[in-house]
Amino acid sequence: MVKVCVIEGDGIGKEVVPEAVKILNELGDFEIIEGEAGLECLKKYGTALPEETVERAKEADVILFGAITSPKPGEVKNYKSPIITLRKLFDLYANVRPINNFGVGQIIGKIADYKFLDVKNIDMVIIRENTEDLYVGRERLDENEAIAERVITRKGSERIIKFAFEYAIKNNRKKVSCIHKANVLRVTDGLFLEVFNEIKKHYNIEADDYLVDSTAMNLIKNPEKFDVIVTTNMFGDILSDEASALIGGLGLAPSANIGDKKALFEPVHGSAPDIAGKKIANPMASILSVAMLFDYIGEKEKGDLIREAVKYCLINKKVTPDLGGGLKTEDVGNEILNYIRAYKDG
Ligand code: NAI
Ligand code: MG
Repeated sequence: MVKVCVIEGDGIGKEVVPEAVKILNELGDFEIIEGEAGLECLKKYGTALPEETVERAKEADVILFGAITSPKPGEVKNYKSPIITLRKLFDLYANVRPINNFGVGQIIGKIADYKFLDVKNIDMVIIRENTEDLYVGRERLDENEAIAERVITRKGSERIIKFAFEYAIKNNRKKVSCIHKANVLRVTDGLFLEVFNEIKKHYNIEADDYLVDSTAMNLIKNPEKFDVIVTTNMFGDILSDEASALIGGLGLAPSANIGDKKALFEPVHGSAPDIAGKKIANPMASILSVAMLFDYIGEKEKGDLIREAVKYCLINKKVTPDLGGGLKTEDVGNEILNYIRAYKDG
């Protein structure tokens, strides 16, 4: 039996994850173990990621994570983000972030407000390196100079770029684009681009590369230009939040953090303190993360069924306020659950 460690975290993590767990239990037989992490946890136990949670995550085959609130800068000494710690601990080097509106972009309420966009089918995947770059946490203050080290290794670049090409081929994608800033970051992104140019020769699929700044514009202006994007950690973090605006926002953006032995699934969004407690958070990003969990354990047909249920809700405007609807978090979870049950009943 597949063991899932569920970590709800803070804020809307506590509201959206239970909806995702409902879908998980509806479609499979899992052993679920729970773990605590985040700011509330820090206040309670003096650590944002207790050893007990780490042990449970180690025991599990996969992890389902909600979102955590970070303390304000300077508030907690030597603070380490639990999610970054888990990614490092299990060497979850590939962060896969699909940006997909299921072909129903124009009827998503908020999207229609973006008058400058003619959004039709948005379907791209951002593959973000997940263990290196500025996120290695080597920051220091030398008197009045604050310094952060940006680490890009050949090994790290090779494995994420290979992952992106393999992913593209396996999922019938047409192109892999490397996003970088090698014109300025000549050594670090220079290495990443060099590795990309070597590896692309081994795959029979279109490959190109763009600078990150113009990509930030083109994601909005010409999103159809992109299919699979592979990029370094921080650019991937920023571009994936930006790209989520094309599909109505973070409420629809799931992700998978994949390593050779373990994987962690989580919505791209954070704990959203501005809406936490109102029970209006969109659970679709978490539910779509469960779909990615099923893909990962080799049950893609269940993942597809979940995506179909989400598409049904989008078409029929059974959505939370972020997508222009009036439903609560739990209502959307139940709509998706009922769609799946109806399918199962025949
Ligand atoms: P956020 O992703 O929490 O929220 C950004 C905006 O999107 C807010 O207006 C929020 O209401 C909206 N939003 C996000 N998810 C939504 C959903 N499911 N349904 C409807 N609307 C949604 O980012 P923010 O506000 O910058 O950060 C809040 C906290 O979350 C911070 O403490 C930050 O450090 C943390 N964070 C944690 C992450 C994680 O646990 N992996 C990732 C990103 C941020
Ligand atoms: Mg982010």
